[in-house]
Amino acid sequence: MRRLVLASNNAGKLRELQAAFAPLGIQPVTQGELGIPEADEPYVTFVENALAKARHASAASGLPALADDSGICVAALGGAPGVRSARFAGEPRSDGRNNKRLLDVLHGEIDRRAWYHAVLVFIRHADDPQPVIAEGSWHGEIALEPRGDGGFGYDPIFWLPERGCTSAELDLAAKQDLSHRGQALRTLLARLPEHW
Ligand code: IMP
Repeated sequence: MRRLVLASNNAGKLRELQAAFAPLGIQPVTQGELGIPEADEPYVTFVENALAKARHASAASGLPALADDSGICVAALGGAPGVRSARFAGEPRSDGRNNKRLLDVLHGEIDRRAWYHAVLVFIRHADDPQPVIAEGSWHGEIALEPRGDGGFGYDPIFWLPERGCTSAELDLAAKQDLSHRGQALRTLLARLPEHW
């Protein structure tokens, strides 16, 4: 079993990533399990934040690292909250308050288009000059009210018109199949053998 440090402590994302790596003989350990504190995410792009998180986790653990940065972008808000998704309603981070704030901000808005975006970064060591970078986007709409109790984050208000449900009403396998992170993960896994 090869070990890989996951530069995230988000339980929902970990569930999705761990399920994908286990069949490959790769054992992901979270940075939290290794006592590594969370990195700062000061940048305005997903890719810069993901790289910073991966470097931080790899430098602190001495292991190859995988980091994810993701968020929800809303067309009527010019792509916000984007990299600020986790803290959209301020500190302490709360999915419930974030969802409520987004519904409030979009009250009366007709253009409900939104998309999730995810960037995954894999590095073999902290100074790796060739990170593997994979991205994915998942398009939907912001619902008028929350529905479903699966997933995490904005899933109860992420409406999928072609499915007639929110992403919180999908099971894990269906979400992996469609989601921004699922797409990024498949791209990353296809490229991993040539790098690691
Ligand atoms: P990060 O941990 O800085 O990448 O924060 C990403 C934030 O974007 C999460 O805390 C959620 O609010 C939101 N997000 C990203 N991916 C998803 C998803 O698959 N479902 C719901 N919310 C998501």
